[in-house]
Amino acid sequence: MHWTKSQLNKTIKKIIGNRLLIIASNREPYIHVYKEGKIEYIRPVGGAVTALDPIMRVCKGTWVAYGSGSADREVVNKNNEVEVPPEAPKYKLRRIWLNKDEENGYYYGYSNKAIWPLCHMAYTGPSFDEVDWAYYKIVNRKFANTILDIVKDKKAFVWIQDYHLMLLSKLLKEKNKNLLTAHFLHIPWPNPEAFRICPQKIEILEGLLANDLLGFHIRYHCNNFVETLRLEMEARIDKEKNSVTYGGHETLIRAFPISVDFEETSKAADSKEIKNTMRKLREEFAVKDGTFVMVGLDRIDYTKGLIEKIQGLDRFFEKFPQYKGRVLFIQKGGLSRMHIPEYKALNERLNSLVEEVNWKHSTEKWLPILFIKRHMSRKEVIALYKIADACIVSPLHDGMNLVCKEFIATRNDLDGVLLLSQFTGAARELGGAMFVNPYDRENFAKAIKKAIELPREKKEKRMKRLRAVVKENNIYKWAGKFLEELKKI
Ligand code: F6P
Repeated sequence: MHWTKSQLNKTIKKIIGNRLLIIASNREPYIHVYKEGKIEYIRPVGGAVTALDPIMRVCKGTWVAYGSGSADREVVNKNNEVEVPPEAPKYKLRRIWLNKDEENGYYYGYSNKAIWPLCHMAYTGPSFDEVDWAYYKIVNRKFANTILDIVKDKKAFVWIQDYHLMLLSKLLKEKNKNLLTAHFLHIPWPNPEAFRICPQKIEILEGLLANDLLGFHIRYHCNNFVETLRLEMEARIDKEKNSVTYGGHETLIRAFPISVDFEETSKAADSKEIKNTMRKLREEFAVKDGTFVMVGLDRIDYTKGLIEKIQGLDRFFEKFPQYKGRVLFIQKGGLSRMHIPEYKALNERLNSLVEEVNWKHSTEKWLPILFIKRHMSRKEVIALYKIADACIVSPLHDGMNLVCKEFIATRNDLDGVLLLSQFTGAARELGGAMFVNPYDRENFAKAIKKAIELPREKKEKRMKRLRAVVKENNIYKWAGKFLEELKKI
């Protein structure tokens, strides 16, 4: 069956029925900000909100999230709710307010200094701080109280997102046993040896096991989670059913590879507006005719392999100097989590590395790398994908990665090569990509050369294959399959 919006709609009606549908996540899908005295909104770049917004447009429930924008308070009603998308409202966004200490301890602290590096097993050690943990619990309780207030005595399904809210299901069920809760983790689950160092591991695992359904991107993360339980908890594991029973409560554990709204993105990419925007971007970036354009779009995060990408490009220009002046790499980098020293340091290191590589290879008329940090609208992002001859997605570790799937969805012209890190969840589905190991500079450089020299028919063949996968496994299928599992509960 091919999943579409209307198919998902039917599934929701059948499965959710008269229950309220509530999504809970840290990040909100629309952020209202002041710009030159006026209120505007921006769409954050993270994978979770990109994937869930199209689903909520269909589901019409309430999305509960932390209100982080400078003008967020100005646009809500007395219940702290605002209808979104702002230009054509389809669902409610209920905002939760955090004070500076809460934001610092819960978001910057426990979520992003402890859990994020712990789960990505990446290259900056997790740091577990008692005060951060205390705020993590306070904010999880804040979300629980808000949701209980929305639900009152109605029936509801609460769909929890991401690693910021791993205690939420337990807190909800303690107050209301009839709630149906599911949690989708948008980041990898590490192996038991990595996870066991976490001082708060039992409370986190108990929090997650209060859910009726627990989802990860890929089977490997489910297996890691079950192995973690085997090591840490007195839980009964049912291999046949892929479920775990703890304290008399059963949780189904399933893999659901998340995706993008293929149809919408593909259609948007075809519009006249995008053609105009492509022209503007080419002008802004001074792209000369005949230049081979490569793009990258990432949050500036140490898991995204940005340093390794620039080093790979450096090696490429060293090894194949015949391409100097003929290739341009445009990296769009979204500043992220800047109050965490590792992120600040990474940003500084990247700036100086790009400068160094540009200095080393540039000529009077040509710079090899453009590092763009300004905010780009959705239109501009699509146009950026479309002006690219290749897209380089090279994280060191990524649960899924939706940049590569978005790139594929925009390429109705069947042109464009995807260079993809073998360490992304997406690599398991996207066989038509050209794979790179971001740590292997020599091969990274060779892969770039191969992408440039790939004949048009081969590019088309690869892109056709990639598009067939993303078209079939779209975001509606992800949500539909997730919700269908609820029938088993
Ligand atoms: O995959 C989605 C994701 O990586 C989340 O896990 C994360 O919350 C988000 O993108 C981006 O991070 P932030 O919300 O901290 O900007």
